Amino acid sequence: MRTKSVLPALTMSLLAAALVSGCSEQPKQEAAKEESSVTAAVDKAMEQTADAVESAKQETAAAADEAQQAASSALDEAKAKAADAVDAAKAGADDAMEGAKAAANDAVDGAKAMAGDAMDSAKAGAADMMAKADGAMAEQKLDGKSLATTKGCVACHSTTDAKMIGPGWGGLAGTERSFTDGTSAVADDAYLRAAITNPNAQIVEGFAPAMPAMPLSEAELDALVAYINTLK
Ligand code: HEC
Repeated sequence: MRTKSVLPALTMSLLAAALVSGCSEQPKQEAAKEESSVTAAVDKAMEQTADAVESAKQETAAAADEAQQAASSALDEAKAKAADAVDAAKAGADDAMEGAKAAANDAVDGAKAMAGDAMDSAKAGAADMMAKADGAMAEQKLDGKSLATTKGCVACHSTTDAKMIGPGWGGLAGTERSFTDGTSAVADDAYLRAAITNPNAQIVEGFAPAMPAMPLSEAELDALVAYINTLK
């Protein structure tokens, strides 16, 4: 620093001035001369001191600026780091959120798929039931006329009142039937059923016990009886 180098010089100058002025033997003119030179030296020293102070101030200010700059850049760096850390934390949180969302979506998709599957199998089951119900309906709607053919009834029975091996079915329903054992009965639904399921219990007068008992479902029996009822 210039201040340090200037101060000893100033001190020296003052000392020299004091020494010079201390010589009282000198003539007055000499003394005045000396005095003015001392004053000049002092002024110069003061000037130099002021310069030194000024430059020290400037240096201090520069150092302060530097320190401030360093501090502010350190602050900026710290801010940047903190911002980075915040960003990283945000990114991490976002990732976690995304992961959670994805997992939730997967779970929802899985549940949807399972629900869909359950729905599909329920639909399939319902369709099966419908098909079976249709089948049952179809069986109930069995056509007596076709059954009489497929079961072989028409081999022995005509659909008119013409006799074959068995009595004709035309005009049979509701009439009174006479049997070989001397009894009789009205040909209602119950009679027709019994005549079909147990043909040899009562033999219609004028006929031989030639009718075989055939395995028929209730639906088929109903259909055949209904068909015979239509033959007037
Ligand atoms: C092999 C010949 C034969 C076949 C096949 C036959 N029947 Fe007969 N059926 C007879 C004879 C014979 C009688 C009369 C004697 C009797 O009452 O068993 C008769 C009687 C009946 C009677 C009573 C008729 C009346 O006048 O009271 C009914 C109803 C009848 N048959 C229905 C059927 C039906 C329905 C089928 C077919 C699933 C069938 N039969 C198949 C020979 C047959």
